[in-house]
Amino acid sequence: MHIKFYLNGKVVEADVPAGMNLLEYLRSVSVFSVKRGCDHGECGSCTVLMDDKTRNACLILMGTLDGERIETLEGLNADRRMELMQAAFLDEGAIQCGYCTPAMLLALESLLRANSKPDDAAIKAAFSGIYCRCTGYVKPMVAAKKVVMGEVDG
Ligand code: FES
Ligand code: FES
Repeated sequence: MHIKFYLNGKVVEADVPAGMNLLEYLRSVSVFSVKRGCDHGECGSCTVLMDDKTRNACLILMGTLDGERIETLEGLNADRRMELMQAAFLDEGAIQCGYCTPAMLLALESLLRANSKPDDAAIKAAFSGIYCRCTGYVKPMVAAKKVVMGEVDG
């Protein structure tokens, strides 16, 4: 089927199998920041932003994407807030293997678009859908709080 949607601000027109999911599509076009974990909507590794909200790309069928706005880290790397978030994660050592890090950064970005001063509970809720196999949740929380408090030198 033919679909048209927006990926990182650019129009994408593609002929895809209706049963293909967005995770498969993104990796087929070298958008590798979006990771494959469980493939069943459980781990959050494949998080993308759809209209500013976090969604699991493995659960989005391409056939439902017409007109939707999808963002991944590839589209946000030049964004100032994303630079600060990445600097905070590096400064705080909030990255172990890094497999969950793109999803955590997108979750934080989504949260901050909706609420520029989230409290700890809101940050925890934002990270809660993302499974960190390295069990590294404390330092991402510290990094996120530094971003919220404007305490990052980027
Ligand atoms: S790969 Fe999509 S939620 Fe795990
Ligand atoms: S840092 Fe390894 S999965 Fe989170």
